[in-house]
Amino acid sequence: MTSTQPRPTTYTPPAKQEEQVDYSQVLEDLSSASVRRNFDPYIDIQWDAPEMEITENDPRWILDYEVDPIGRHPWYQSLPREKQIKIGMWRQANVAKVGLQFESILIRGLMQYSFKLPNGDKAFRYTTHEAKEECNHTLMFQEMVNRIGMKTPGAKIGYRVISPLVPLAATTLPTVFFFGVLGGEEPIDHIQKDFLRTGADLHPTMSAVMELHVAEEARHISFAHNHLRETVPAKGPLQRFALSIAMPIVMRVLCGAIVVPPRDFEKEFDVPKSVMKDIFWRSDESKKFLRNVFGDVRMLAEQCGLMNPVSRRVWRALGIDGRSSRYRSEPLYTAS
Ligand SMILES: [Fe+2]
Ligand SMILES: [Fe+2]
Repeated sequence: MTSTQPRPTTYTPPAKQEEQVDYSQVLEDLSSASVRRNFDPYIDIQWDAPEMEITENDPRWILDYEVDPIGRHPWYQSLPREKQIKIGMWRQANVAKVGLQFESILIRGLMQYSFKLPNGDKAFRYTTHEAKEECNHTLMFQEMVNRIGMKTPGAKIGYRVISPLVPLAATTLPTVFFFGVLGGEEPIDHIQKDFLRTGADLHPTMSAVMELHVAEEARHISFAHNHLRETVPAKGPLQRFALSIAMPIVMRVLCGAIVVPPRDFEKEFDVPKSVMKDIFWRSDESKKFLRNVFGDVRMLAEQCGLMNPVSRRVWRALGIDGRSSRYRSEPLYTAS
């Protein structure tokens, strides 16, 4: 898997990386890894251990200044500690709820995709392993949401209404569907890795859930990258051009769906409209967050031949342009 690559000592253009990878071998390796290393949230997380208890007024739920765009806003910083904790619990439960809603769509899409694969196609085995792991993730996220015990709806109402139709894209527009897979997985993975990297004092339930999730997502993201690198360059020039425009749009829409809380958040905690606008995405810090989320996807776009003068403008217009990662999961804290 590419996530274990050491940092290169000399710069290699992203387009030149991974070009020798044998896709069929990747599918075999990822499938074997799914069997060798997988988790069950009801075996691997000790939900009822005393230290896992979720109690009121625990400061470990306060949103991290570095990682969460809400946590670093002066409005949040100025709130009484008790309200910061309540917002932190709501926010973290809601992100988990959006995550499980996204993964539920993903599972249905993967089933839709594998349904029409011919006998002997190695992608059938891998995508089915992945769907099984995502089922475990939805169980794990829902368990955490239930234990936090707040009324969190997850994604905004519009996304929830159209959710039954989205998995159909796995059959009609499979490449766009896999863009969508990355558009959801990359922001969640990016945020969770940042949490774990900063060493923030997290509640043990949160850290257990994140560690387990990040470990399995590495495989899923690796598959999506390899699948797109294998299939996109083989398409005709017109299709590739259309895909180069669709890619940043899908990324931006899905990142918003996952990171921006629904209206219920503003109502529940009396968040001023100007604060919401600042956080999503007017302030410089927020803009930087948005750009940094997609460093790996920009690298992938270059590797797939999907960066051209027009698509670069779309990435920029959507506020998600910037330097491409040199390897997957490269921290981009200094990127501007
Ligand atoms: Fe997942
Ligand atoms: Fe995943």
